[in-house]
Amino acid sequence: MTFNEFLTAVKYSEKNFVEQVKEVNTIQGLEELFKSYCGKKGSLSLLRKQIGLMTPDEKKQAGQVLNKAFEEIEALYKEKRETLEQNLEDELIDLTAYIAKLNQDPLKSLGHMHIITKTLYELEDLFIGMGFSIETGPELETDWYNFEALNIPKDHPARGMWDTLYVDLGQPESTLLRTHTSPVQIRVLSSQKPPVYMIAHGKCFRRDTPDASHLSSFHQLEGLVVDKNISFADLKGTIETFTQAYFGVETLVRLRPSYFPFTEPSAEFEISCRICFGKGCRTCSNTGWLELGGCGVVNENVLVNCNINPDEYQGFAFGFGIERLIQMKYQIPDLRILTESDMRFLANF
Ligand code: FA5
Repeated sequence: MTFNEFLTAVKYSEKNFVEQVKEVNTIQGLEELFKSYCGKKGSLSLLRKQIGLMTPDEKKQAGQVLNKAFEEIEALYKEKRETLEQNLEDELIDLTAYIAKLNQDPLKSLGHMHIITKTLYELEDLFIGMGFSIETGPELETDWYNFEALNIPKDHPARGMWDTLYVDLGQPESTLLRTHTSPVQIRVLSSQKPPVYMIAHGKCFRRDTPDASHLSSFHQLEGLVVDKNISFADLKGTIETFTQAYFGVETLVRLRPSYFPFTEPSAEFEISCRICFGKGCRTCSNTGWLELGGCGVVNENVLVNCNINPDEYQGFAFGFGIERLIQMKYQIPDLRILTESDMRFLANF
């Protein structure tokens, strides 16, 4: 290596390090980068060996250039390390006070059920008390159960109501992550004879961008009754009974006309705002009401799809989001906190 080649190599290493150090964002990455230049077998360290082959004049100059490069790289390394360590410190949460509080109450430090699980158990108890059974269905569904049998044929514009996540299995768009718990209606009605009084709850998935009131994976609770002489009044009574048991007897319920292909007529059910008690506030957009879910009289086509005679049996169904229910009860501004494992929040329930 000539003297000039040596100078170019040092300059080149220095320039490369300056570029690369900007991109590093972990302490481990920084250590590795530094080692690859200044470690025993690092590129700059290897250049030092070249100095031994130079003339005395060149040696002196080359030594100075190389030492300066080492110093510069070391300074950049130290500066970056300080920044990364400071970032880490900023991210740390001081849990001392929280742990001290837990230690005063040994039962709490054992942990407890998540508020979503607790709520599901609470609702199960409530509906079992009203004579409903608990049913389940798979999270991975077929197009038939999630859409077709629910009176939503392919290319029906109502499919746009649910932003669906399809799974690459079988025919294209034949398998999906269920967008609602309504397919459990079909599973139960195809395998049990009426009278049916059931609820089913579980995870649902949609291509929704998470925000304060939306998650891409959330829970729903579905209710279905199919029996003789069932009317819209039974639906309203059931919704009133469970919302008052869950939220408190002062809660009012109202139904507003809506559309779902699997119920006819359909409605959205709303409860009186828990913050302003119907007077109107920011949370309820000054309407005095908060929307909880959808409901309606089971569409005849759904009964026919499940081999049930609509002249003999009628039914009603409803479905609502569990996270939204919890949000309303505890006035949680942003749903997303329910999916984070932040003990400062979770320990409140
Ligand atoms: C349905 O999913 C119907 N299956 C409900 C139904 C059942 C109607 C039976 C009639 C008879 P909808 O898409 O509106 O309807 O969702 C129902 C509820 O699920 C919403 O009111 C809301 O509480 C909750 N929900 C919907 N999308 C999300 C989401 N991305 N994040 C959190 N909760 C959601």
